[in-house]
Amino acid sequence: MNQKPTSTARPTAQNAADHAPAAVHGAGDARADGAPGAPVVSCRGLRKTFGDGPVAVDVLTGVDFDVAPGDRIAIVGASGSGKSTLLHLLGGLDQPSGGSVRWLGNEVSGLAEGERGRLRNALLGFVYQFHHLLPEFSALENVAMPLRIRRVPVAQAMQAAREILASVGLAARAEHLPGQLSGGERQRVALARALVTRPRCVLADEPTGNLDRATARQMFELIDELNRVLGIAFVIVTHDMELAAHASRVLAMRDGELVEQC
Ligand SMILES: Nc1ncnc2c1ncn2[C@@H]1O[C@H](COP(=O)(O)OP(=O)(O)OP(=O)(O)O)[C@@H](O)[C@H]1O
Ligand SMILES: [Mg+2]
Repeated sequence: MNQKPTSTARPTAQNAADHAPAAVHGAGDARADGAPGAPVVSCRGLRKTFGDGPVAVDVLTGVDFDVAPGDRIAIVGASGSGKSTLLHLLGGLDQPSGGSVRWLGNEVSGLAEGERGRLRNALLGFVYQFHHLLPEFSALENVAMPLRIRRVPVAQAMQAAREILASVGLAARAEHLPGQLSGGERQRVALARALVTRPRCVLADEPTGNLDRATARQMFELIDELNRVLGIAFVIVTHDMELAAHASRVLAMRDGELVEQC
């Protein structure tokens, strides 16, 4: 919190630890603390079919999956196998056709929309495959947004956003609009936005897809450090075998199911 960000800052979790919230705030009630030992995110019998009749596509046919606190999981699989679909369902961003998703034991489909949004903001960070940054807001404002939604005071939110932007090597790009950034820079802003709240779990869809090796490695180091120091769980969809090698578990989407990869 007190540390001034610099444009040369290496990825570090130290700043993160400095302003990590003592408890999850922003959730509507005590459920954000969950049952002791409950998986941060879990699903059972998760199914998703797009369309119906002859054009129906059964993308997920029954996925069982638990993310324990501090897990580092990579999900690999062919293009079109359903990785993004799975991540969207786990993040409560889309409705399953069947089965259940739970966050710290709370059944997501049973939550009212506002409550679901609050709990998501309190527990999860999401890195979309295609960024979804707000084009009319600067990188700094985009990153600060999840904290502002939590009603963190503006100065504190901006400071936290500056620090995490420095951690992804973008201190000098804080005032730029997304349209003024390269694809890889936008990807790093999206990662910073997912991390700024120090969530229990980050769901990241190909977070290093547009990055060169050196920058991708910096992101791996940042993820490793946040995982080790703050115990943030990561579920990372990736085609990058080097990133997958950093995971403690590698799972593959195949024929609508999630299977352990040997
Ligand atoms: N909204 C939708 N409507 C219809 N079909 C969809 C929709 N979203 C995804 N699909 C289909 O579901 C399948 C899985 O898509 P998904 O985006 O989950 O794949 P993916 O594994 O993330 O692929 P990639 O590696 O290319 O990102 C694809 O065949 C896709 O065409
Ligand atoms: Mg995808």
